[in-house]
Formats: sequence, structure tokens, C-alpha cells
Amino acid sequence: MDRVKVGVIGAGVISAIYLKNCTGMWSHAVEVVAIADVVPELAQKRAEEFHIPCVCTVDELLADPEIEIVLNLTAPAAHAPLNIRALESGKHVYTEKPFALTREDADAVLTLAKTKGLLVGCAPDTFLGAGIQTCIKLIADGWIGEPYAASGTIIMGNAFDGMHPNFQNFLKFGGDPIMDMGPYYLTALIAMLGPVRKVTGFAHQRLHEVTIDNPQSHAYGQTVPISAPTNVSAVLEFDQGMIVSLQAAKESFGYKPRLEVYGTEGNLTVPDPNFFGGTVSIQMANGDTKEIPHTHPYKDEGRGMGVADMAYALRFNRANRASGQLARHVLDVSLSIFESSKSGQHVPVTSTVDRPKPLALGLKYNQLDR
Ligand SMILES: NC(=O)c1ccc[n+]([C@@H]2O[C@H](COP(=O)([O-])OP(=O)(O)OC[C@H]3O[C@@H](n4cnc5c(N)ncnc54)[C@H](O)[C@@H]3O)[C@@H](O)[C@H]2O)c1
Repeated sequence: MDRVKVGVIGAGVISAIYLKNCTGMWSHAVEVVAIADVVPELAQKRAEEFHIPCVCTVDELLADPEIEIVLNLTAPAAHAPLNIRALESGKHVYTEKPFALTREDADAVLTLAKTKGLLVGCAPDTFLGAGIQTCIKLIADGWIGEPYAASGTIIMGNAFDGMHPNFQNFLKFGGDPIMDMGPYYLTALIAMLGPVRKVTGFAHQRLHEVTIDNPQSHAYGQTVPISAPTNVSAVLEFDQGMIVSLQAAKESFGYKPRLEVYGTEGNLTVPDPNFFGGTVSIQMANGDTKEIPHTHPYKDEGRGMGVADMAYALRFNRANRASGQLARHVLDVSLSIFESSKSGQHVPVTSTVDRPKPLALGLKYNQLDR
């Protein structure tokens, strides 16, 4: 296929895996031609590592007529403003999550894209991986009967170790458990079960500042503010009637993910939606638990697949799966959880979205459907 030229903005931690994959397994679909960061040395370093021909400023990148997709890997607060600028410059955009911090910003991005006839995509794309795609197929084929409930837990360490170069972003709104980790779970749940119509939630913040006591951290000894909830619990009612509980907290240590879908004829263990692969199993009506082989090939860390899918969408004139509309619904659900916590009321979710089309069966490794 005629490769789609991509310009990357944001050369931080997550850019490494995107660049590895976009210059590797997805390089038949996309070509990374430029990279920019407010810290030019970071862009320079990534350019050297991944042989990207142009290191430039954001303005220069947006002015480059060759670039078709802007891949926005910046911090949460910069997502929507940069996406607007990219669209204004006539570029399609694919952004890291969260899609935006407010519904107004999300809508501004989608409205502008529609006016200009441009595509919008947003992470996560992990639901395109073998794990979740297999679960989607099993549910659609009736392996668990009628799904009526699901339960997800994301218990993980906080950013108090100060090891991420910009760990402060994980101590404020946008890096909180629901806006940061929730999108993996919510996107997978929506891809499996359809849109959400109502939520109720509780959001707690235990501490308001932390002193970094890790001598390995660049911020060792500093006291930094925490300005977002760190422990959130929600119940979601889906359009199709399923009731789903979600617990997301960054108060502990380590990493403890869990996602299960319960059906009238079986209980499905869904692999961690933060990754592409993982074990899929079903507890059958007779009590036996069976591991089910993947129905799709993408089990390895494939971040960037959503960008490749967008490149196929552009070249073959179809919809992209990790879409802005999907991310807008995920954001709506997330914000509704916080609003419910504040008001003490259930909050209706006014947006909706069609489930993204499952990937075709029989695709060769690293190929997508046209
Ligand atoms: N770190 C992870 O494991 C991880 C995993 C999945 C998704 N993400 C998401 O990816 C995004 C980036 O995360 P990260 O960990 O790479 O963060 P990071 O802080 O390491 O990188 C962000 C980069 O963007 C640059 N930047 C910020 N604002 C900018 C602007 N206006 N113009 C140009 N450059 C700008 C920063 O200088 C920084 O280098 C976040 O939204 C995060 O939620 C991170």
C-alpha cells in the first residue's frame, strides 16, 4: 500500500514503543518522517534511535505538507489543544489517551475534524489485540450465552516512586486511575458489550501531597501536590442491560489487573486490556475452566496498531476502529463517574457509539483488513 506519512509530537516514555512498531511491524502502512517535542533533545534522541529523518519544532511539523497523520504522544493536558492545531493544519490526528479533559474540548476536536473531512483516532488500540478480539468473537458466537454482567479491577502502584520523568502528570486529573487506566478497560468493555447508558461512582483522594522518598528519583526529597482522586469505584449500566463494576486505584504497589464477563452459560476471563495478548479462558456451565486459543494473531506489544488501522482507513476508504467517537464515549463515561461521585446521583451518559467492527479472521500477521 501507499504508506501514510506520520509526524510524531511528544518524544517521551511511550514514544519508544510507538516508534519501534511504526518503524517495524506497521512500517508497510506508515512512515514516520518527523518528530518534535518541546524538549528538542528528546526528539533528537528518538530520531537517532529510530532513524527518523527530521527533528523539528511543532510549528514546522504542522506546516510540512507531506505529513498526513499527526501522532500526538504528549501529556494529557496538551492532547486536545495540539489535536485542534493539527486539524487546523489539515492533518488527520491520532492521539494518546485521555482524548481530552473535558467534553467541550473533545467535541471541539470532533466537530473540527468533521468540518474538514479529517479522521480522528485515539488510544488505546489494545482492544485490537488477540486477547480482546478473541473475547469479542467468543461473546458474539454465544460461548457464554447471554452476557449480563462484568467486573474489572485495576489496582496499581502510584507515581510516588518518582521514577517517571514527568510523574507529576500522574498525580493530577488526566493521569488519575480513571482517565489514565480506565480507557483500556472501558474501551475493551464497550468493544465487547456496546455503549454505556448510565453510571454511578465514588472517587476518593486519600492524600493531597507526597514527599518523594526514593533516592533513585530525580525528584528525591521534593514534596509534590496530588490534585486528583486516586481510588475510584463505579457501576456502569450498558445499553444492552449488562451491569458492570469497575474499581480503579493507584494506592497500592505493583500491578493487579482483572477483567471478567459473566454470561448465562459461561464466565469469560478477559486478559489485561492494557496489553494485546494474554490468556483467554471460559468457565463452562459444568464448572470446568477451558483456555481458549486466540482467534487473531496480534498478541505481542503492538501499540501503534490504531495508527496503522487509521492508515488503512485512509487508503481504503473505511472507518478507523480506535476512533475519536469511541474515545469521546469513553471520556463521557469517565467524566460521568466523577460527576456521580460529586452529586451522589446516577448520571445518564448522553453520548453513544457503535461497537468498533471486529477485525477480520485469517489476517496475516501485521496485515489489516481493507
Ligand atoms: N508511560 C506509559 O507507560 C504510557 C502508556 C500508555 C499511554 N501513555 C500515555 O501517553 C502520553 C504520554 O505519556 P509518556 O509517559 O510518554 O509521557 P512523557 O511525559 O514521558 O512524554 C510526553 C512528552 O510530550 C512532550 N510534550 C508535552 N507537551 C508538549 C507540547 N505541547 N508540544 C510538544 N511536546 C510536548 C513532553 O516534553 C514529553 O517529552 C500520556 O497521555 C499517557 O497517558 C503512557
